[in-house]
Amino acid sequence: MVIKHVQEILNDDWIGKDVELRGWIYRKRRTGKLIFVVLRDSTDIVQCVVEKKVVGNEKFKELDKVGVESSIKISGIIAKEERAPTGYEIHAKNLEIVGPSFNFPISKDKSDEFLLDNRHLWVRSREMNAILKIRSTIFGALHDFFREKGYYETQGPMFVTGAVEGGSTLFEVPYFNRKAYLTQSSQFYLETLIFSLEKVYTVAPSFRAEKSRTRRHLTEYWHAEAEAAWYHNSDMIDDEEEMTVQIVQKVLQDRKKELKILNRDTKMLENIEKPFERMKYEKLVDFANEHGVSMKYGDDLGADEESAITKNFDKPVFITHYPIEIKPFYHRPDPENPKVVLCHDMLAPEGYGEVIGGGERIYKLDVLLKRLEEENLNPEDYYWYVDLRKYGSVPHAGFGLGVDRLVWWIAGLEHIKYAIPYPRTIRRVKP
Ligand code: 4AD
Ligand code: MG
Repeated sequence: MVIKHVQEILNDDWIGKDVELRGWIYRKRRTGKLIFVVLRDSTDIVQCVVEKKVVGNEKFKELDKVGVESSIKISGIIAKEERAPTGYEIHAKNLEIVGPSFNFPISKDKSDEFLLDNRHLWVRSREMNAILKIRSTIFGALHDFFREKGYYETQGPMFVTGAVEGGSTLFEVPYFNRKAYLTQSSQFYLETLIFSLEKVYTVAPSFRAEKSRTRRHLTEYWHAEAEAAWYHNSDMIDDEEEMTVQIVQKVLQDRKKELKILNRDTKMLENIEKPFERMKYEKLVDFANEHGVSMKYGDDLGADEESAITKNFDKPVFITHYPIEIKPFYHRPDPENPKVVLCHDMLAPEGYGEVIGGGERIYKLDVLLKRLEEENLNPEDYYWYVDLRKYGSVPHAGFGLGVDRLVWWIAGLEHIKYAIPYPRTIRRVKP
């Protein structure tokens, strides 16, 4: 008997053939001497018809007793059946209950909180299965992009001693008889590594003690970061644009079925091609006001503003040249207008907002020391970062992509917590 996955046998070539399937009971219904089992595995669902006289009294009774989510092996013949949920059905000849399940806690109409408390079981749902597959495709496409573009994969530490993105969102952890923090970004470590490898990237968790409860904040998220020697702001934007298009294309190509399960409007995604608009922050302020979002020069964008603004976009947009005051110290001031920095954020359309933050780094020692002083930061805390500007510094740029935010947008989800297997937020650290 050949063992197959459900998806492989859902076609006319398999009609009349024998197969063994292994999976879980998704639905079950008895009518007299027949039991209809909808079996699910990682790939799809299929209806199986189990007849008492074929499988015998004993097995029929056993199947009748167990509940949904029991794991089973079923073998039988494949037939076409228009009325079955996926168009085919298995006429069972034999079956084995491997791991019985009784009173599976999740049924229809459970609250969001209940489903989050039971996330370890909810990950089995068709909806989560679809999201997790899209997520896997996105992570794969990211690695493909970087490797094809000549970036070396590398890693920074997770225990660190300083802030990258400001002190207010640092998680402090006891570290023997000292204190340390969980990293907010691997950027500074990647900057050290370009002096060896020139182009580097990492995909790793970042941690933010975000007190905000928004649709887009996690306290632990997956961060894809890149850094490249000799790159200027616009070079990095070019790579990000190409990366975004490539990832969206890959999802459209490989995850049609999953996008459909999630009712994602794919027209928006099919529209994603180069070039993306590049808009200076100054122009964004006008754009915002013209579109009913009141904002003045110097205001940072909050989640609500970004959401309102990006509802007017049908493709990602790069916002560049932010005022120096609202960006971290490491951004390179524009030599033509030092009131702004050579940075960029990529905002996703449809109300999603920022998914990438990046830019060119200060590479001159005196400029960096001046910026540290202006921000009241102690250069000794950053001695190794300062060193890079003493020993063969080069212009360079980089970015950080919130991968969960990318999944959130591409899959068209309501809240970022649905985009990651085990979301961590201000209110949740379990399961
Ligand atoms: O804009 P951020 O804070 O930039 C940095 O950390 C830079 N050091 C990155 C770099 O240049 N190497 O964060 C980068 C991205 C954001 O655009 C967002 O997508 C994501 O990380 N992000 C979060 N995602 C989920 N939950 C949070 N709390 C996030 N904070 C940032
Ligand atoms: Mg940012």
